[in-house]
Amino acid sequence: MPFTANRDYKEAPRVVASAAGMYYRDQDGREILDGTAGLWCVPLGHSHPTIVKAVQEAIATLDYAPAFQMGHPAAFELAEQLIDYSGNKFGQVFYTNSGSESVDTAMKMVLAYHRARGEAQRTRFISRERGYHGVGFGGMSLGGLPANRKQFANLLGGVDYLPHTYNLEKNAYSRGIPEYGTHLAEELDRIVALHDVSTIAAVIVEPLSGSAGVILPPKGYLKRLRELCDKHGILLIFDEVITGFGRMATPFASDFFDVTPDLMTTAKGLTNGVVPMGAVFSKAMIYETLLDSPAGIEFFHGYTYSGHPLACAAGLASLKVFKEEKVLEHAQSMTTYWEDALHSLKGLPHVIDLRNVGLIGAIELASIPGKVGARAMAVYKQAFAEGVLIRTTGDIIALSPPLVLEKKHIDDLFGKLADILKKTV
Ligand SMILES: Cc1ncc(COP(=O)(O)O)c(C=O)c1O
Repeated sequence: MPFTANRDYKEAPRVVASAAGMYYRDQDGREILDGTAGLWCVPLGHSHPTIVKAVQEAIATLDYAPAFQMGHPAAFELAEQLIDYSGNKFGQVFYTNSGSESVDTAMKMVLAYHRARGEAQRTRFISRERGYHGVGFGGMSLGGLPANRKQFANLLGGVDYLPHTYNLEKNAYSRGIPEYGTHLAEELDRIVALHDVSTIAAVIVEPLSGSAGVILPPKGYLKRLRELCDKHGILLIFDEVITGFGRMATPFASDFFDVTPDLMTTAKGLTNGVVPMGAVFSKAMIYETLLDSPAGIEFFHGYTYSGHPLACAAGLASLKVFKEEKVLEHAQSMTTYWEDALHSLKGLPHVIDLRNVGLIGAIELASIPGKVGARAMAVYKQAFAEGVLIRTTGDIIALSPPLVLEKKHIDDLFGKLADILKKTV
C-alpha cells in the first residue's frame, strides 16, 4: 500500500466504499466527513453529478485515443479552457497522468528549452528543503523530505536546495501568510554564485509546501524569488499540484500571490480526482523555442495516457462546475469562518501551532519524545473512528476540505477534533 504502515494498517483496516459531496461512507454506511478532499484532489466534492455524467458519456463515445501524432477534440478544448482559467498567463499545457509526471515533464521541458537555445550546460535545478515534488526520480531528487529519499540512494545529481521557511519561534499562530522569513529568498543569490548562473536550468518550489505539513511562504518571499530569477535569467517553476484549482480561493496560488512562474505543474483538482490527470502549463516562449528546430518531433516525451478522453471529460466538467457554481467565490466566503474555527483550537492539549490560508489549515502537535508522528497518528485513527478524515505528516495535522463545504461542516470538523485532542495523551 502506498505511503502506508502496512502491518499497522492490517491490524485495523480503514475502508471506504462510496462517497458523495462532503462525505465518504464505509462498508457499513457510516458517514466520514472528508476534511482533506481525498488527497487534496477533490475540490468540488465527491461524485459531482455533472462530472459523473460527463465521464459516463465520454466512455460511451471515445474510450481511448492515442496522443502521439494525433488527437481528439476534448484534449484541445480542455487545453484552451485551462489556459483561459489561468488568465492566459501561459501559452500551452502538456498532459500527464499525475503530479509526479508533471514534475518530471517540467524538468525535461526546461532542459530541452535550454538546449534549443544553445545553453545545454544549464542542467542544474534549485529546489527547497522540505519540498515535495512527487515520487519519480526527478521529483524525488528535487524533493526535500528526508524520509522520501533515504531508501533510494540513486538520486539525480545537480540539485541544490534553498532553505525551508518553517519557523515556529517567529511565526507560530500566524493567521494567513506569516511575516518572518522573506530574507530566505536571498539565499538564491548565494547558490547561484556557487554554481554559476550558466549551469542553472530552473528554480522549483511549491508556492506553499503541503506534504511537508503546510509550510507557508513568508510575505513577499515568492515575489522576491521571482525578482531574483529574473535578475539571473533563470526559469521559475511553481509546483501547484495541491495549490492549483482553487485551494486558496483563487484559480492558482500564483494568482493569490500575484507572482507568475514560467512553468506550473498541476494534477489532482484538474479532474476533481475522478480520473488521473496532470498538466504542465508553460509560457508560450518555451513552446516557440522548441518549435524553432528542424522538422520532426520537437519534444521527445509523452505518455500512453496523455490527454485520455475520460480525463479530458472530467477536466472539462470540473471547469464547468467551478464556473457555473461559483466555487471560488464560495470558497472565499468560507475562509474567515475557517480561520476562526481553526484558531479556536489554541490552548488545547499538545497544540503548538495553528496556521492557515485559503481553505488550508494545519494543527501542529508537540511530539512524544522519541516517537515523532505517533501523537498525530493516534488523532488520525480516532478521528476516522469518529467519522472525520484528516491527514498527518509527522505531528502536523493537515486539513484541506472540498471547497464546497458549509459552516456546519467546519463546525463538525473542528468540534470533533477539539474533543479528540482533549482526550489524546
Ligand atoms: C506539490 C506536489 N507535487 C507533486 C505531487 C505528486 O503528485 P502525484 O501523487 O499525483 O504523483 C504532490 C502530491 O501530493 C504534491 O503535493
